[in-house]
Amino acid sequence: MKRHIVLVGLPGSGKSAVGRLVARELEAPFLDIDRAVTERAGASVAAIFAELGEAGFRELEREEAERALGGPAAVVAPGGGWAAQPGNLEAISKSALVVHLETDPAIAWQRVAQEGGRPLLEATDPIARMGELERERIGAYRQAAAVVNTDRLEPREVARRVVELARSMGGW
Ligand code: S3P
Repeated sequence: MKRHIVLVGLPGSGKSAVGRLVARELEAPFLDIDRAVTERAGASVAAIFAELGEAGFRELEREEAERALGGPAAVVAPGGGWAAQPGNLEAISKSALVVHLETDPAIAWQRVAQEGGRPLLEATDPIARMGELERERIGAYRQAAAVVNTDRLEPREVARRVVELARSMGGW
């Protein structure tokens, strides 16, 4: 039976870009949880953080991920903090193949530096902040069943490896 393919990793690890490519190759739906949250709230991630705080954002994120993961097998990209919230990974241990897109914090920052809109990275030293997020989350990310290091790979190559994992371990 096909399991969901859930991508976890730091902001800038490529979850959305890779997820879209993987979904196309597997002919599966692609569900971007940040997008589901912002569409539901009618507000940007930054505005949700400003209005409801991180706790409010996490609740919306948990609900939207739960909705996505309750549906037909899909490729799912939650935001980088989702996997580290208590209970979230445990809830999908049977229904999903979780893949960690492992990325060096400095490289992850380089990839998102131009984008903005990530309240948790608004810091005087964003690379150090990214390193802190990694330290806080690495225990959760390492619960993934598989890992692909993205530091030196284009999204297309990362996607190719995730597709292989989906076929060998995820029932696709
Ligand atoms: C967050 C990552 C973001 C977004 C929000 C919080 C985090 O998603 O969910 O800004 O806690 O790491 P990306 O990982 O897609 O950037």
